[in-house]
Amino acid sequence: MKVLSVVGARPQFVKLAPISRAAEAAGVDHVIVHTGQHYDPMLSDVFFTDLSIPAPTVHLGVGSGSHGVQTGAMLGALDAVLDEHAPDWVLVYGDTNSTLAAAVSAVKLHYPVAHLEAGLRSFNRRMPEEHNRVLTDHAADLCLAPTQVALDHLRAEGLAERSVLVGDVMTDVLLNVRELVAGDRPASLSETGLADGGFYLATIHRAENTDDPTRLRTIVESLAQLDRPVLIVAHPRLVAKAAEHGIELATGTLVPHRPLRYPELVAVAERSAGVVTDSGGLQKEAFLLRVPCTTVRTETEWVETVDLGWNVLADTHEEISRAVQRPAPEPTRAEPYGDGRAAERVIRTLLEARRAG
Ligand code: UD1
Repeated sequence: MKVLSVVGARPQFVKLAPISRAAEAAGVDHVIVHTGQHYDPMLSDVFFTDLSIPAPTVHLGVGSGSHGVQTGAMLGALDAVLDEHAPDWVLVYGDTNSTLAAAVSAVKLHYPVAHLEAGLRSFNRRMPEEHNRVLTDHAADLCLAPTQVALDHLRAEGLAERSVLVGDVMTDVLLNVRELVAGDRPASLSETGLADGGFYLATIHRAENTDDPTRLRTIVESLAQLDRPVLIVAHPRLVAKAAEHGIELATGTLVPHRPLRYPELVAVAERSAGVVTDSGGLQKEAFLLRVPCTTVRTETEWVETVDLGWNVLADTHEEISRAVQRPAPEPTRAEPYGDGRAAERVIRTLLEARRAG
């Protein structure tokens, strides 16, 4: 069996790591196509090195652009790549523009498409990711759901017969990396002089939070007035938008820092007093590490983290301050994100579905 994975953005490289390992263990021929959506070494190359992912077979080098320009450039380049490799499955990940482009290209050329992390919904039609995931799920031949809630969404949209619950591959990576970094003091904490448990970790990168100056100013001011230092790990979009709007990131309790490598991020999150983020992945990572999380959004796809009390949604200045400084949540042993063996299940499901088809 030949599987062709299409990835392009940082969270997709993380999900690719356990899939690549499981594919190799099962003797599956695995072709990796990198669209080039993320190209900064700290957003791309270091993930391949740190997570032992083989270098991409094909790199499209598409780069940044408006949604249409970026997605269109990927589509234009992917047709020939898919035809050259003629895979049994095109595997697409998550909800970025790279996901949608690969799903559309594959489905038009009649290559079976499997969508990893299918069925997530925010029900917020202002989010580009919401369109990417809905369109990809409905184009896909196989929807691989990470959670029961995601599977329920797929069923409600009439996709039950094509959907399978496999668990969350991010759990696979996190558990693995957590073990590898246990005991190492993260360099970024030594560099900034932050003590274990004495700081918050923040990341803000979504368009809804960065592109409007008033919105971004509110978030930066809220974080800058918290009761402990805040290590803000800044995505290039945040740095660019803050500069464009004249918003200073090195203010109050904020300690800006360049993006972290994945193992470093896990080690820092685990040592923080709390995480404040608008990232989907980090909300879940905080939960798996049992670190309280505050999500700077009005909704989340990862509702289990909220239901179990480990994540609180916060929008306004007051909500952000109150949520971050709230008392510790009740301990829980719940495992809504699987047992760390989702990638094996994904490969098994692809093999079985191919035989059945
Ligand atoms: C994308 C995904 C988002 C995901 C995020 C993870 C879409 C619609 N969004 O958002 O779901 O959570 O990746 O990071 O696909 N830039 C750089 N260097 C890079 C890449 C981007 O400087 O290597 C800057 C550019 O100014 C670019 C901006 O970041 O215009 C946004 O990049 P883009 O890939 O369009 O979206 P993300 O915000 O990263």
